[in-house]
Amino acid sequence: MTEAGHTHGDHSQWAETSHCRVAAVRHFGAFAVLELIAPRVARRAAPGQFVMVTVPGGGSFLRRPISLFAAHADRISLLVEARGGGTERLTRLDVGDAVEVAGPLGSAFPTEDVSNALLVGGGIGCAPLQYLADELSAAGAHVTACFGFRDFRSARAAGAFTIDRLWVATEDGSVGRAGTVLHLLAALDVSPGTTVYACGPTPMVAAVQRWTFAEGLHGYVSLEAHMACGTGSCHGCVVDTARGKLRVCAEGPVFRLDEVTP
Ligand SMILES: Cc1cc2nc3c(=O)[nH]c(=O)nc-3n(C[C@H](O)[C@H](O)[C@H](O)COP(=O)(O)OP(=O)(O)OC[C@H]3O[C@@H](n4cnc5c(N)ncnc54)[C@H](O)[C@@H]3O)c2cc1C
Ligand code: FES
Repeated sequence: MTEAGHTHGDHSQWAETSHCRVAAVRHFGAFAVLELIAPRVARRAAPGQFVMVTVPGGGSFLRRPISLFAAHADRISLLVEARGGGTERLTRLDVGDAVEVAGPLGSAFPTEDVSNALLVGGGIGCAPLQYLADELSAAGAHVTACFGFRDFRSARAAGAFTIDRLWVATEDGSVGRAGTVLHLLAALDVSPGTTVYACGPTPMVAAVQRWTFAEGLHGYVSLEAHMACGTGSCHGCVVDTARGKLRVCAEGPVFRLDEVTP
């Protein structure tokens, strides 16, 4: 992997579907961490990538894009927030239940030659950052994470993370520092050359981008988009970038911070 958006070279959007079993479930308020036995996905996965998950029970639901929260040996984990009907059903899955996932899909966060990493997440956008922290730490990087949540309810997600240096802010002051993730960043002493990784709502990503450039740093962002196919064929997730119009599900979701305008 050399550049954000160029993980596996061929950009092939053929998505292998794996029939998995749920091995473990942990609940954190409206959030659930689902551990799935998915050896073929786990073997090929990289941090920042996502899977399209079939909503159990059928109905009119399209598959839902969910980031890889972790991958170890033959297992992947997903951190799911019950937002609407589809994700609500996913958070109700139990140990032993069957679930179908297609992927891994999309581009990954570049992790080579990183000695200091700053991971900045907002809300459910924090989900891909645990896997990224695991990979960076295993490679010897110094990892700091700053997560922002709206309120106590959404900050329950923080309980799912095992990152040593993790700072949390909530807008209502109920957990961690009162304010946004930008207040956390302002209080940090950041080493020159730190690589910034961001994922969250668009206004947060735009603010983190401005802060990153003002600090003379560089980094990557995972963009959110509404996705129908998730495999590059419907062109419903196209965004303008410095490389032209690109699909968030195929060339993204990870882009260089300096090539997007959130
Ligand atoms: C690349 C990618 C990775 C994602 N990773 C995760 C993850 O790790 N964990 C997780 O819980 N969610 C993740 N999401 C968001 C998740 O896919 C949506 O919340 C889900 O599709 C909503 O489906 P639903 O049936 O529950 O809700 P719906 O009833 O379809 O919608 C409920 C609400 O969610 C909003 N919504 C729907 N789709 C999206 C979307 N793609 N992005 C933002 N808002 C949306 C709708 O506008 C509506 O307000 C990710 C999305 C993308 C694009
Ligand atoms: S969701 Fe269909 S092309 Fe991206």
